[in-house]
Amino acid sequence: MTTRQQRRVFGEVADAYDEVRPGYPVEIARRVAAYLGHTPARIVESGAGTGKGTAVLRTFAAPLTCVEPDPAMAAVLRRRFAGDDLVEVFLGSFENWTPPPGGVELLASAQAWHWVDPTRRNQLAYDALAPAGALAIFGHHYGFAEGPFLDEMDAIYDEIAPEIADPPDKRLDRARSFHHDEIAESGLFADVETQHLETIVHFDTQRYLTLLSTFSGHRMLPEDKRVPLHNALADLIDRHGGVLEHRITTSLWLARKPRP
Ligand SMILES: C[S@@+](CC[C@H](N)C(=O)[O-])C[C@H]1O[C@@H](n2cnc3c(N)ncnc32)[C@H](O)[C@@H]1O
Repeated sequence: MTTRQQRRVFGEVADAYDEVRPGYPVEIARRVAAYLGHTPARIVESGAGTGKGTAVLRTFAAPLTCVEPDPAMAAVLRRRFAGDDLVEVFLGSFENWTPPPGGVELLASAQAWHWVDPTRRNQLAYDALAPAGALAIFGHHYGFAEGPFLDEMDAIYDEIAPEIADPPDKRLDRARSFHHDEIAESGLFADVETQHLETIVHFDTQRYLTLLSTFSGHRMLPEDKRVPLHNALADLIDRHGGVLEHRITTSLWLARKPRP
């Protein structure tokens, strides 16, 4: 029997993921180029999924290798960039991808760097980069309880699925410092910095439930918890007019491989 791994559950809902997960502001590419001081000549993206981060990286018009281990996610990605000569897909994990000689100028990862082996990812990133190349990790911050009825949502999670409830405080701070501290403490990189962007997205009840169904924490819940949890959240949103306003913070973590 194979164990169902949390980092591999996204492919179970690849199309829904592509449909409801918010994409990333193209401003991310502008900030990455400003950090690098130029447009990268060659890019690798770890955990490309269905291509939401890829779409932003593609604006660089440079050869882009998308590393994605899940066949269903990779199928959506391939469909999206079919016929695009600059985009190639490597079906496998980042741990199994071999960088080109001399490395790449930009290693990017959208909402996926935390899935790479934490004991090796800094060294793997260092090895993948050319001297003065940049690591750019970006992603939206999602709490499971969000928006104007945060307290009521928290109460529902606490009652039905406390194992995935957000910690009551500091949730944003924790997400904000997570990659920064890990990269800085590795001692391998220079100029480590974190930037943030805010976007507002509206979800009606059904779309919000579909969004939740794409989160690995929700997917790993047994059905006898997930169904009542989603029903209770749907009731809550309906009682508040049927639309949830999500204020999304997108973080961008940047680091540079020093020249020898
Ligand atoms: C939350 S999704 C993010 C997808 C996409 N980048 C986005 O922003 O929508 C995480 C992705 O990381 C992939 N992944 C999981 N483990 C990985 C690994 N070891 N190396 C590379 N990608 C991995 C998953 O298959 C999934 O497609």
